[in-house]
Formats: sequence, structure tokens, C-alpha cells
Amino acid sequence: MNKFKYGVAVACLLVSSSVALADGKLNVVCSTEQSWCDLITSEFEKETGVDVSMIRKSTGETLAQIRAEAKNPKIDIWWGGTGDPHLVAAEEDLTQPSGYDTSKLMGWARGMANISGGKTIGIYAGALGIGYNADLIAEKNIPAPKCWKDLADPVYHGEVQVASPNSSGTAYTELATFVQLFGEDKAFELLGQIGKNVNQYTKSGSAPSKATARGENTISIGFMHDMVKLATSGFPMKIVSPCEGTGYEVGAVSIIKGARNLENAKKWVEFGLRPKTQALAATVNSFQVPSHSESTVPPESPDLASIKLIDYDFATYGSSETRKRLIDRWNKEIKNIAK
Ligand code: G6P
Repeated sequence: MNKFKYGVAVACLLVSSSVALADGKLNVVCSTEQSWCDLITSEFEKETGVDVSMIRKSTGETLAQIRAEAKNPKIDIWWGGTGDPHLVAAEEDLTQPSGYDTSKLMGWARGMANISGGKTIGIYAGALGIGYNADLIAEKNIPAPKCWKDLADPVYHGEVQVASPNSSGTAYTELATFVQLFGEDKAFELLGQIGKNVNQYTKSGSAPSKATARGENTISIGFMHDMVKLATSGFPMKIVSPCEGTGYEVGAVSIIKGARNLENAKKWVEFGLRPKTQALAATVNSFQVPSHSESTVPPESPDLASIKLIDYDFATYGSSETRKRLIDRWNKEIKNIAK
């Protein structure tokens, strides 16, 4: 082979191997619990042979990353996390439809696709609640809370922990839930009163419940299924469905606009929404309600039918303008009140 032909042959080999490599990759940001992120990633790799690079980030943080990378997207798939920031990303044209047929999904999961023109799809649901450490409540001789309004009682000074809505989808769900339950001004009044009892606003939504379970904090606000995970692990964690009623999340999956590994991203969506895959979540104690109608709901999942749920308005609270306005107001009026 002369030098020229050899060069061409090597170049062809390099091109085809780089194409093969590109075909075999997927970049995922995962906003569910780490153990579920790890398990679904390894199961997907096992089935498809695709090489997945995955990191866990809170929902609000992921939205910020996707916005920052809009001109040069590095992520292909955003898996999990609360639905409102997924809807914001859809509205801001940062994500794209996956083409997945949603007809077998629960109504609340289809709702996300309907609002977003198919750019985001519901993968699970979970209700917000209050958690407390039963040992610490007894030790400190303070009453167990029953209602959101109880959390404003000065008896809980320094005992409450919740995430920041800037980074956490859980905390944004709480903010939007309060506004829907009490009206905006009253909600901020109550958040201010509760703020006097808050010892820390954490980055991740489940961190306050983990600290509560370990006995480093007394009361947390978070998703009930995250509290069940801790209670089933043997921690003295008690779960309260607040007397006024509560809001819920529809966790979602989205494909990023301009995804470099689009075909693999579509494969992930199809894989993640299968009843068999959804059933794996409970094996790592992730007890959300799965979105596929043929999935079985784990017996440990908080029963959404017996919880006083509000009719959460995802179209409004998942809109870019509303989210920005509420978070700006929270930063101005609430953020610096914490003890
Ligand atoms: C936990 C829950 C998920 C939820 C997520 C939101 O992982 O199990 O159901 O979607 O928190 O996380 P974030 O840190 O954004 O509040």
C-alpha cells in the first residue's frame, strides 16, 4: 500500500471508530436519589452497551446548568427531579420532544407531556410532608407537629430544616404548595414565621430528612417517600401528612435540545418508562408512585389517595415567569431569616 492509500485507510478507521464511540455514549444528569441514579444507569448500560456518564444534581441546579450550556449542550438526558423546572426548561426551549407514546401513562404523567408539547414526561409522583425524629421530640419534650402552621410555633426555634428553592425542586414544590394553599401573601407571611425556626436551608431536597433521621435535626420538610426510605432503614423517622393538605411533585424526564447522543437519549426514555424498570426503584428504597399504568405501586409508597392533596397547578407553577417571581421574592423576604 502506498503512503497515500495507507493514510486514507487510517483516516477511515479513525473516523469509523470515533463514530462508533459517539454512538455508544450518553450523558445524564440525574435528580433522583443517588442509589436510584446509580442503579438505573448500570441497568441501562447492561441492556444497551451504551457507555453512560452520569452525575447527580438537584433539580434547580440542573436547570441552571442547562440554561448556561444552551448554546453548547453537554447533557443529553435529564432524569428525574421535580417536574416544575422541567416544564420551565421546555418553555424556554431548552429541551425537545422524545416522541414517546404516553397513552399508557397515568393522567398526571401525561399532563406534563401535554403542558410541554411532549418535551417532558412524568415518571413518578410523590407528596410533600413533614418529618420528625421521634426520639428527639420526646427528649426535648416538644409536641409533634400536625400542620404546616404548627411549624411557625416558637417552640420549634432552630429545630426545622428545609432546602432552598434556588437549588432544590423539593423546596420549590413547598413554596408553590404554600402559595396554592394559603394565597401568596399569607404564604410568605407563614414562610417568614417558619423561617425563624429554620436552622439551615440545604442544597438538596432530601438532605433535611436525612439529617433528621440521623438525629442531627428535629423536623424536616420534604417528600414523604424520602422519609419512608429512612424509616424503613430503621431510623426513628415519623411522617406527617399536614392537616391543611399538601402539594405533590410529578418527577420528569427530558431530552436536552441539541443532545449529541439523541438516539441513545430516546432509548433511555423508553427504558426508564417501562414498568419493569420502574419496579427497580423500590429495590433501592425509592418509593415514589410510578407513572406507567401497568407498573405496580410499591406497598411502602405513601398512598396518594388517602392524602389530602391539592389540585397542584403545574401549568402555572411550572412556568418560567411564576417560578422566577416566587424565587426572587423568597430570596428577598425569606432566605436571610433563618437562625
Ligand atoms: C428526592 C426525591 C425525588 C425528587 C428529588 C428532588 O431525590 O426522592 O422524588 O424528585 O428529591 O431533588 P431536589 O434536590 O431537587 O429537591
